[in-house]
Amino acid sequence: MKLGTALTENATKALLLGSGELGKEIAIALQRYGVEVIAVDRYQGAPAQHVAHRSYAIDMTDAEAVKQLIIAEKPDYIIPEIEALSTEALKEVESEGLATVVPNARAIALTMNREGIRTLAAEQVGVPTSSYAFAESFAELKDAAAHTGYPCFIKPTMSSSGKGQSMVESADQLEEAWAYAKSGGRTDTGKVIVEGKVDFDFEITLLTVRAMNGQGEVVTHFCEPIGHRQEQGDYRESWQPQAMSVEAGRAAKEIANKITDAIGGLGLFGVELFVKGDSVWFSEVSPRPHDTGMVTMITQRQSEFDLHVRAILGLPVSSRLSNPGASAVILGGVDGRGVVYQGLDQALAIPETEIRLFAKPEAFVKRRMGVALAADEDISKAREKAVKAAGLVTVKVNLME
Ligand SMILES: Nc1ncnc2c1ncn2[C@@H]1O[C@H](COP(=O)(O)OP(=O)(O)O)[C@@H](O)[C@H]1O
Ligand SMILES: [Mg+2]
Repeated sequence: MKLGTALTENATKALLLGSGELGKEIAIALQRYGVEVIAVDRYQGAPAQHVAHRSYAIDMTDAEAVKQLIIAEKPDYIIPEIEALSTEALKEVESEGLATVVPNARAIALTMNREGIRTLAAEQVGVPTSSYAFAESFAELKDAAAHTGYPCFIKPTMSSSGKGQSMVESADQLEEAWAYAKSGGRTDTGKVIVEGKVDFDFEITLLTVRAMNGQGEVVTHFCEPIGHRQEQGDYRESWQPQAMSVEAGRAAKEIANKITDAIGGLGLFGVELFVKGDSVWFSEVSPRPHDTGMVTMITQRQSEFDLHVRAILGLPVSSRLSNPGASAVILGGVDGRGVVYQGLDQALAIPETEIRLFAKPEAFVKRRMGVALAADEDISKAREKAVKAAGLVTVKVNLME
């Protein structure tokens, strides 16, 4: 295992496709090993671009644009941070041996489309999932919902962060859900997935790492489960560890192990699971750090970002928990540019609390602008502190522009 030095002719180079707040922490973790970081997003000034050696703004769904940039930059690693990418370009780059796609091009293609990953999980790997069916027309949607029963979730197969997604209680709400799914998807594949609602006690993200062990073998590591609370399909709070029964803990690891084995490659995965008593259902998986995993910046010696980077570079990892903690999202609350944050002094007066500000150039009411992190031996106290700290930070914008 060898690492070069950034900005020299023998540099080890990593190209981030997507440069949001998760990418920013990946970039910082890469910088600590002297890796040359190239941060790509659809706009200039994205969070990871503030801490990269170079940055580009391109349409990352444009296969030609992605391929051209890769040919020009010759990265060793391509690290996707978002789902909306040209998977075609990544497949080509991988098959031509131009760079290592993390964790691999197939994983990126499978997980950007709910149909790909759901079919792999339920039909090939055979792990428990909600009941589900796909629909390409309103008539098919009615049949699909009759199959899953009510309540059910209707989601565009290509979407993330709850976009285009709604929960339907009865057949008379299907029309509205269909229209919303059509408008809210990333690219209009015309297809939706209907999922029966899983009546869970709580949901978790099980961060799972496939890393080398220093002896040439790939080993799978699990972080302590992360509990989280979602609102409108987007995460608001997370905490680690989430207490669960021994049997549920065993089942969760078994599912995560099977799924990540089937995907392969090296890196960290966020396996989303629903838990009720001793029963566990697979929901979805991110082949990259997970937003709810930001809590690990205060709970683990090696955060999910450190783990991802170490795994990618072929280094051994430790997924050990240092202390319990929680995270709470700081939302924009307003729309506008010229973002100013207030109240950090009060937020940081809360003991064992940290704030990360993402430095996004533009705020939206529901845009994630920062995160509050809090450590406490008592999880409910950690959650209280994180929520309080997040609430004390307010976002102001230039309304005069
Ligand atoms: N089948 C389901 N049963 C119960 N809750 C669900 C189901 N599908 C989604 N949810 C809820 O909606 C959230 C977002 O759904 P998810 O499929 O993870 O979408 P996204 O890809 O946008 O994160 C989940 O974390 C969960 O809280
Ligand atoms: Mg999700």
